[in-house]
Amino acid sequence: MPKTMKEHWDSVYSSQPVTQLGWYEPQPTPSLQLIERCGMDKQEAVLDIGSGASTLINALLEQGYENIYALDISEIALQKARAELGAEKANRVQWLVEDITQPAKAFNLSEIALWHDRAVFHFFTDPQQRQDYLTTLLRVLRPGGYVILAAFAIGGASKCSGLDIRNYDTESLTQFLGSDFKIIESRQHTHQMPSGDLRPYVYTLFQRRKKS
Ligand SMILES: C[S@@+](CC[C@H](N)C(=O)[O-])C[C@H]1O[C@@H](n2cnc3c(N)ncnc32)[C@H](O)[C@@H]1O
Repeated sequence: MPKTMKEHWDSVYSSQPVTQLGWYEPQPTPSLQLIERCGMDKQEAVLDIGSGASTLINALLEQGYENIYALDISEIALQKARAELGAEKANRVQWLVEDITQPAKAFNLSEIALWHDRAVFHFFTDPQQRQDYLTTLLRVLRPGGYVILAAFAIGGASKCSGLDIRNYDTESLTQFLGSDFKIIESRQHTHQMPSGDLRPYVYTLFQRRKKS
């Protein structure tokens, strides 16, 4: 029987150390650089979509961010993230286990100042999944809030974790978010996997227009 997406990701995170996962970054430098450009107050809410066991959460805590949500379909991934952080830090983060294309908890959030997604949106090959993703984003992100989308670039790998993905460039991500958003920055970044293989990404930073 084919695995559900939750089973797939739980089994990925159960089967190897986090530091051996293809997307593992010792330092989430491109994300941090774009986040710095947002110039947000540290009390404002940050939502990391498909957070997994990313080092971003620790980096944000270290920088003094106080209102962090980490969402992932995989409970195992978030358990590993919590264990790595240790109880004191983990208790300062809100952990949401759910599918971002069928959210219950995330759908009730509001006033999110930053929506961060590295290597998650590109898995949504079905147009309905992308529409559902956008519906939630538009519901929870505050006017003037920021969106960081980092996806496999056009011409890069067509699979990630054994699953088909869609490749993006700045234009297609801009089109996806629509006219309510303006692009602030876009950059190419080549990620070196723990295996040594290279993965070209496009990183984009958008700001939602303020209501006039
Ligand atoms: C390639 S990993 C990237 C993890 C993390 N963003 C990082 O940069 O290290 C993709 C992550 O998205 C999560 N994920 C996949 N589909 C999801 C969905 N529909 N809703 C929420 N999380 C999902 C997976 O469990 C996994 O942690």
